[in-house]
Amino acid sequence: MAVIRVELAGRGYDVHVGEGLVEEAGTLAADFIRKPSIAAVADRNSHAAHGQRLDAALAKTGTSVEWFITDPGEGAKSWAVLERLVDWLLERGIERGDHVFALGGGVIGDLTGFAAAVLKRGCGFVQVPTTLLAQVDSSVGGKTAINTRAGKNLVGAFHQPALVLADTATLATLPPREMGAGYAEVIKYGVLGDAEFFAWCEENGAEVIARDPAALEYAVTKSVEAKARIVAEDERETTGKRALLNLGHTFGHALEAETGFSDRLLHGEAVALGMVLAARYSARRDYIPLEEAARVTAVIDGAGLRSEIASLGLDCTGEKLASHMLHDKKMDAGTLPFILLRAIGEAFLDKSVEMADVAAFLEEQLRVH
Ligand code: NAD
Ligand code: GLY
Repeated sequence: MAVIRVELAGRGYDVHVGEGLVEEAGTLAADFIRKPSIAAVADRNSHAAHGQRLDAALAKTGTSVEWFITDPGEGAKSWAVLERLVDWLLERGIERGDHVFALGGGVIGDLTGFAAAVLKRGCGFVQVPTTLLAQVDSSVGGKTAINTRAGKNLVGAFHQPALVLADTATLATLPPREMGAGYAEVIKYGVLGDAEFFAWCEENGAEVIARDPAALEYAVTKSVEAKARIVAEDERETTGKRALLNLGHTFGHALEAETGFSDRLLHGEAVALGMVLAARYSARRDYIPLEEAARVTAVIDGAGLRSEIASLGLDCTGEKLASHMLHDKKMDAGTLPFILLRAIGEAFLDKSVEMADVAAFLEEQLRVH
C-alpha cells in the first residue's frame, strides 16, 4: 500500500494506492464524511461491480450511500446528465463542506468533479477510480470536464479532489480491452520522463496486463507519483510541464477524430499509437535514433496494443489526419506544439513542427505494416 501526496498549497491531498482500499473507505475518508449519508456517483458497470463494496464499507462506520447512476460511456459527460446530477445533489441538500464520491472510470470522475466544481461555487469530492486509466491519470490532478457538440472536454474546470482511493482490486472486473487502454497511459510516464520505469515496463508489461497484484500496485504507484510531481509543478498547465502529459495525444487525437471518437479506438489505444508516432517522428527529426523509437513500438506491441496505424484500415490521407490536429485544444495562436522525445524518458515541447511535414510523415505511416 502506498500513499502519494499531491503537494498543492491549500489544496493538497493524498492518493492511496493498494488492494482492498474500498473496504477501508469508512476510515480512510472519515475526514470527508460529516453526515449520516453521502451522495455517490457511478455508472451501471462500476456500480454493479463495486457499489455494494462501498455500501458495506461505509455501513461499518454508520454511513449510508445514496446513488446517482448513469449509463456507461462518454454520453454521461453531457450538459443533460450534468444538469440532472446537479439538481439531484441540490435536492439532497449538499453543502459546500460536503464531499460527493465518484466510483467509476474517467467518465464518472470527470462528470462528478465538474458537478462538484460548480455546485454552490465548489463543494468537495472524493475519487474512487475503478479503471486503470482513471487510477493512473484522470483521478489525479483536478481536470474535470464534460463534452459538448464542439468537442470533447471543452467545458470544465480545474477542481482538485480531497482524496483519491485507487483500489487495485476494482480492476479485477475491468474488461481486458480497458486494461490495455489504461496501460498505455502507464507506459507514457516512462516514455515522457523516466527511462528506468520504461525499462521496468519492457520487463513487466505482461504481468500488469495479467493483473498480477504486485506489478499492478507498482505500476499504479509509479504513475501516480509521476503525475503528482508534474501537477504540483504546473497545476494549470501554464508552464509547459503539465503539457508533457499529452505525449501521444496530438497524433492520437487525429486517429480518434478519424474513427469518430467511437469504440473502434479507445482513448488509451489512440494514445498508444500516438506515442509510437511521436517516437518515430522524433527519429525523423533526428532527435532520437530509430532503435529508440523501435523500443517504444515493442513495449506497445508487448501489451497487446496496436502499434501500426495501417492496422486501423483508415480510408484517408496523411493530410486529412494532420488536419484533425488543428482542432487540438493545445493550438496556441495558430501553432501546434508537439510533444517529442530527446530520449526515452525525456519529452519536450517542440513548437517548430511544420504541419506539411507531419502530413507527409503520416502518409508514409499509413502504409507501414
Ligand atoms: P470509462 O469511465 O468510460 O470506463 C470504461 C468502461 O469501463 C466503461 O464502460 C465503464 O462502465 C467500465 N468500468 C469502469 N470501471 C469498471 C470496473 N471496475 N469493472 C468493470 N467495468 C468497469 O473510461 P476511462 O477510460 O476510465 O476514462 C475515459 C474518460 O476519462 C474520458 O472521458 C477522458 O476524457 C477522461 N480523461 C480525463 C482525464 C483527466 O485528467 N481528467 C485524463 C484522461 C482521461
Ligand atoms: N491527462 C492530462 C492531464 O491531466 O494533464
